[in-house]
Amino acid sequence: MPSRLTIKAFIFDLDGVITDTAEYHYQGWKRLAEEEGLPFTRADNEQLRGVPRRESLQLILKGRRYTEQKILEMMDRKNRYYLGFIRAISPRDLLPGAKELLEKIRAAGLRTALGSASKNTGEVIDRLGIRPLFDAIADGYSVERQKPAPDLFLHAAAQLALPPAACVVEEDAAAGIQAAQAGGFHSVGLGPAERLGQAEVVFPNLTGVHLADILTALEGENKVR
Ligand code: G6P
Ligand code: MG
Repeated sequence: MPSRLTIKAFIFDLDGVITDTAEYHYQGWKRLAEEEGLPFTRADNEQLRGVPRRESLQLILKGRRYTEQKILEMMDRKNRYYLGFIRAISPRDLLPGAKELLEKIRAAGLRTALGSASKNTGEVIDRLGIRPLFDAIADGYSVERQKPAPDLFLHAAAQLALPPAACVVEEDAAAGIQAAQAGGFHSVGLGPAERLGQAEVVFPNLTGVHLADILTALEGENKVR
């Protein structure tokens, strides 16, 4: 059971936690899938949360075989669609409660990091205007092995010079919760309990979630809020 004293930092996933870019990733893949005549639904997209670009495409291709050149072209095309969507992002696109929580954590003397598999992390946080709220950033360029491997969060913790047990990971993806647990981090799932049941604590989203609520829930290890 963690005590308030042992928690020193929070590591946030980006897409689906701080802003709803999960929807733009879906729209980008959907357009590509339609152009290629591949079936792809919103339900299929749930499997792609937190999954890197190449692995996401592989899940959409469902074992169909393509040349490496075609795979790279499709990844690039999806990313161009995605970049088109995020061009319009502004601070208005912060999910409710996210910025308030980041500010509260820092005001409490705790540290903050970002842990996202996205190679577009820098562009998104700059458009949201929140880069100064992070002490460390781990993104799609930081490590080889992405979630569910713990490497990305370990990279963030190393930048903070803190052990995993002193850090809480905030995630909307099952793969992200697995990564947190594999690394020995505390974990908070944001979304439906069916998706995030493995997390130590689950909230539907960050709306109205205060730092004290998270720390209290982790201390009690109450599952669903
Ligand atoms: C995050 C998102 C995934 C996305 C991945 C890579 O983990 O949740 O949906 O596929 O980042 O993003 P990128 O912007 O590099 O294609
Ligand atoms: Mg996410």
